[in-house]
Amino acid sequence: MQQQTVTDDDRFSFERFARHPFFRQVNAWLVAHTDISSNASVVDLACGPGAVTELILSELDEEAPGACVYAVDPSESALAIAQKRIRSRIVHFVHGSAERLATLVPQVDRVVFTNAVHLIGDKAAAFEQIFKTLRPGGLVSFNTTFFHGAYPEGTSRFYKLWVLRAMLWLKERGYSISRGVKATAMQWLTVEQYREVLRTVGFEDPVVTLHEKPLSLESLEDIGSFSLFIEGALPGVPLEMGAEALRRGVNQAFDELKLSVIPRNWLQVIARRPLTPLAE
Ligand SMILES: C[S@@+](CC[C@H](N)C(=O)[O-])C[C@H]1O[C@@H](n2cnc3c(N)ncnc32)[C@H](O)[C@@H]1O
Repeated sequence: MQQQTVTDDDRFSFERFARHPFFRQVNAWLVAHTDISSNASVVDLACGPGAVTELILSELDEEAPGACVYAVDPSESALAIAQKRIRSRIVHFVHGSAERLATLVPQVDRVVFTNAVHLIGDKAAAFEQIFKTLRPGGLVSFNTTFFHGAYPEGTSRFYKLWVLRAMLWLKERGYSISRGVKATAMQWLTVEQYREVLRTVGFEDPVVTLHEKPLSLESLEDIGSFSLFIEGALPGVPLEMGAEALRRGVNQAFDELKLSVIPRNWLQVIARRPLTPLAE
């Protein structure tokens, strides 16, 4: 069962983190390599507050027949922010989730799926839906920084210290973290596991690229105030308390380890639905 909190409170939205230049860079790279023609039909799956929808839109000619974007997300509050931000007659906002994608939109040329695949419990089911949603020969591109391989060597101790400091701060205030509760947001796969899921669903061998980006303290404070990140890092803690604990924790960890930035990898993947079914 998908764990998901939809909050109407903009304080816990993804928007602040999405404004950081490195974040725009990884997404812009992925969109640029998705080979979107000016008259393409594109799904922006898990569009969130719409930063990537804008990037996709910039690849399209709004006057070209057929050019359109279906921006899909299960969060009403994220869709409301995106809708406020993007005014285009070729963008259609759709409330729904990856697991039902093929029932929500018509077949398209491209599916772009940024920074959300780690939130999906049943990844095979989601990629099956993406496969069905793509026309034969169509491309899916996705990225994530929550996968086994995200931490460059020597950086994992920073994350342990961050959560430890946050939990200590909560404990001092009488909050206990539910141990053993594995949040959906924490379901990480290896690159090989992603390849395997894609292969099983029927995609051709994907093109896989890693990009390392330096994350600033401010950007980590911002991701620490995103509802789904809080639920993943501190399951069961109320958002307000969780955000404050993570803000204090990341400041302490940066101080103690004398950091100015922390490097982190993004996994970028592009895969094609074959024109004809692959032979066994
Ligand atoms: C970190 S945001 C990414 C937003 C945007 N794609 C970007 O890169 O800026 C993750 C988004 O995934 C959405 N999401 C969570 N579970 C989902 C699901 N099962 N299917 C589709 N989207 C989902 C959330 O509502 C949230 O808006």
